[in-house]
Amino acid sequence: MIKAIVYNSKTGFTKEYAKILSKKINVPCYNLKEIKNKLNKNDKIAYLAWICAGNITGINKVKNKYDVICYGAVGAFPKDENYINTLVSGNGIEKEKLFYLRGGIDFNKLKGFNKFVVKIVGKALESKEKENKELLKVFNEGASFVDEKNLEDIDNYLKTVF
Ligand SMILES: Cc1cc2nc3c(=O)[nH]c(=O)nc-3n(C[C@H](O)[C@H](O)[C@H](O)COP(=O)(O)O)c2cc1C
Repeated sequence: MIKAIVYNSKTGFTKEYAKILSKKINVPCYNLKEIKNKLNKNDKIAYLAWICAGNITGINKVKNKYDVICYGAVGAFPKDENYINTLVSGNGIEKEKLFYLRGGIDFNKLKGFNKFVVKIVGKALESKEKENKELLKVFNEGASFVDEKNLEDIDNYLKTVF
């Protein structure tokens, strides 16, 4: 089994997933910022982080340092096979190790540049996705899709690790 779940969260959705998974599999979860004193090089971990412009944030801080058994990429877009393939190639990880977890948008916690970017994406979607009302609503008003059920695949995968 892994030693810990490490998470990187800006507005809290990834943290929520990490906490739920931690309880479910009875493994501690740590914020990426606090792992220096908690983990040793090559420890087995699962890494959960929010996606920023297609990048799994903080990935370079864990990739060649710990034995990352799998990744949970948390984004605002719906789960989609093509999108997952883009994340796999863009972040240089093996497909079977990547699990997409839909997070959400929380305007109360977004500030400055990050808030601006999400608003811009919302505006861009307005012209492109007229029929996709759900996605427009997410980017204009915010939403949460955090659900324990979304963790089933990553949970099953972790059960195969000794
Ligand atoms: C600047 C910025 C860029 C983002 N880029 C993406 C993206 O490329 N793909 C995606 O699915 N979500 C993207 N999002 C949405 C976040 O990944 C989403 O809100 C996520 O749930 C945040 O997780 P957190 O609450 O743990 O920080 C972006 C958000 C911000 C603020």
